[in-house]
Amino acid sequence: MEIPFLSFSAQHGPLKKEAMQVFEQFYDSQYYVLGKMTAAFEEDYAQFNEVKHAIGISNGLDALHIALKVLEIGPGDEVIVPSNTYIATALAVEMAGARVVFAEPDEKTYNISPKEIEKNIGPKTRCIMPVHLYGQACEMESIMNLAGRYGLKVVEDNAQAHAATFKGVKTGAFGHANATSFYPSKNVGALGEAGAITTQDDGLAYLCKVWRNYGSEKRYHNMVKGYNNRIDELQAGLLSLKLKYIGQWTQERIRLAQRYLSNLSKGPVVLPYIHPDASHVFHLFVIRTPQRDALQKYLDENGVKTVIHYPIPPHLQEAYRSSGYNPGSFPIAEELAQTSLSLPLYPGLKDEEVDYVSDLILKFYKNR
Ligand SMILES: Cc1ncc(COP(=O)(O)O)c(C=O)c1O
Repeated sequence: MEIPFLSFSAQHGPLKKEAMQVFEQFYDSQYYVLGKMTAAFEEDYAQFNEVKHAIGISNGLDALHIALKVLEIGPGDEVIVPSNTYIATALAVEMAGARVVFAEPDEKTYNISPKEIEKNIGPKTRCIMPVHLYGQACEMESIMNLAGRYGLKVVEDNAQAHAATFKGVKTGAFGHANATSFYPSKNVGALGEAGAITTQDDGLAYLCKVWRNYGSEKRYHNMVKGYNNRIDELQAGLLSLKLKYIGQWTQERIRLAQRYLSNLSKGPVVLPYIHPDASHVFHLFVIRTPQRDALQKYLDENGVKTVIHYPIPPHLQEAYRSSGYNPGSFPIAEELAQTSLSLPLYPGLKDEEVDYVSDLILKFYKNR
């Protein structure tokens, strides 16, 4: 059996006719930037995320960056970021001119630990950036309490967790200005680049619209030295279409994850742990094992493609060489990088495919 790591067939196949209609509407509108599709998508996404405002942005990295800009975080400021995130979270802080301070994750959930955040708060700390990694909500109640106590801003990185909740509240609705990505492989994916900022604050929403559009609200009048970080109009239209299906796709992800969890419950690999107050939308289904590389090779030889999220934590990337970190600087993040393996999981993956992957994993350990 050949099982790709990711396939869009089951999501995009049935939507093709509707997607072509979106394209035709876009084409005929003759309004290709910040048009009606962007406006409609911003309403749709705000409604979906249960927030007052959503602002369409060019991609997730730019959304994180603008969220920091509108909160006036920049040179001289420190921002606390998980040590085991995708590098975009840290890069956004650098783009804003602030300093990244890494904090270790909780060993069970892999999400940034509130205790570690508190340990890293210093006189220059201005902001916390929790990342809802792999699709599980961070402990947002403790994080917001910490932020309140220390007078800090919160920017959630919700790129991987569309529709996840903590104590029933959707991720992307807690922080002051929150960013998400619609990179094609995300739970809600564009057919190209796209992102968004969500916020409950009218003033911040206004500023996001200004910063993404050359610092201008009124054409040819520039309030700030802004950027061209506008969402692509066609992607906005396609995302509105996909949002209609996100409920169904999320349920399917959760069902498939439960099948993996039950198939592998007696096996020797570490399975995803879900915090009792959090929901997990399984953007990724990540197992852990010290034999990770050998298991990945075995699965590959048997037709199953897997991916490592992520093989090198940000502080050990070449890009951070001058920052003075070494192996051992963040042991939990480093251990996760050495042991994590993401299994195929996407809407359309069949039960028998989940069973095939699970059986292979059990067989791998039986043969050792
Ligand atoms: C956690 C996280 N943050 C930020 C990003 C950046 O999003 P984008 O690729 O749309 O810039 C991604 C995904 O790529 C991500 O996984």
